[in-house]
Amino acid sequence: MRALNFASGPATLPEPVLRRAQDALWDLDGSGIGILEHSHRGPEFGRVLERTEALVREVGAIGDDFAVLFVTAGATHHFGMIPQQFLRAEETADYCHTGVWSQKAIDEAKRCGDVHIACSGAPDFAATPASCAWSAAPRYVHYTSNETIYGTAWSAPPAGAPAPLVCDASSDIFSRPLDLAGHAIVYAGAQKNLGPSGISLVIARRDFLETARRDLPPLAQYRTYAAEHSMHNTPNTFGIYIVGEVCAWIRDEGGLAAMAERNARKAALLYDYLDQSRAFTPHARPGSRSLMNVTFRAATPDLERRLLAAADARRMSGLKGHRSVGGMRASIYNAFPEDGVRRLVELLDDVEHGRA
Ligand SMILES: Cc1ncc(COP(=O)(O)O)c(C=O)c1O
Repeated sequence: MRALNFASGPATLPEPVLRRAQDALWDLDGSGIGILEHSHRGPEFGRVLERTEALVREVGAIGDDFAVLFVTAGATHHFGMIPQQFLRAEETADYCHTGVWSQKAIDEAKRCGDVHIACSGAPDFAATPASCAWSAAPRYVHYTSNETIYGTAWSAPPAGAPAPLVCDASSDIFSRPLDLAGHAIVYAGAQKNLGPSGISLVIARRDFLETARRDLPPLAQYRTYAAEHSMHNTPNTFGIYIVGEVCAWIRDEGGLAAMAERNARKAALLYDYLDQSRAFTPHARPGSRSLMNVTFRAATPDLERRLLAAADARRMSGLKGHRSVGGMRASIYNAFPEDGVRRLVELLDDVEHGRA
């Protein structure tokens, strides 16, 4: 029996995708060769790449003014790659500071140019900032749409940004309809809502890409990925295949509107329980709560230990919070089943009332 996996990423993937991938590992579309073994230059993989890009565009309703790129690296790679390409030493970029991941992006940008912190959720990072104070002429405005570790999310992009938005959407990409208005770049590591780790999706406005530096190594420029269909070198062929399958699953489930509806329902089950519980307290404040990563604390260390032991006994895994903030975290991305959230609420209630 498979366990209920609450891990924050790599995370639960849709079951039909895993089953299809099992077949494709052995024999891709009747070619007699598995997806891991096909040449990236062959027609079979060519069709996979084309299909994946088409599905990403269909699911995300992404027009041709944006390039869709597959980069062989995690989201951390883009923390450096973006300022390297777009932020010159004499320029300023504005960053919204909402937790651990935005801090890492800020640290990388400081290597390239001036960084202005436009707003901050410090010290507790329990809410996204209510307003931002922008610098005079920022090159771009960076924000993290969903802060995976603290369990907070922007309900809408930061308002009034005076420059193109750049968004790290690693932990909520395709969890709701994608709004690209005002955005130059949306990037996401795949290992939560899109597929396996080690590959990221970059959605970049073509005219913004034209403003990037040209004196960097080819793989440090999005322009190269755009010009060569993410095939300058051998791409992560398996990752691209899985992203395509996940997008096909999203489409077949009703698309991003259906994902949003389901995600809201799932998260409400958990927050409703936590808001009335005397044993467990949610970390994020209403209005800023992530629908993907629900963070909470037990009233005592003993209760936390009991919860984790009881979870283990019921084959529920990955509930311990990130090492930098502690507590508990239930990651319930698109593919995490609604019934699994119900079972978690049942477990919390059983632990709270001494039944587990
Ligand atoms: C919001 C966010 N940004 C960036 C990252 C870093 O991703 P990676 O480890 O793939 O570089 C993560 C990782 O989980 C994340 O949640």
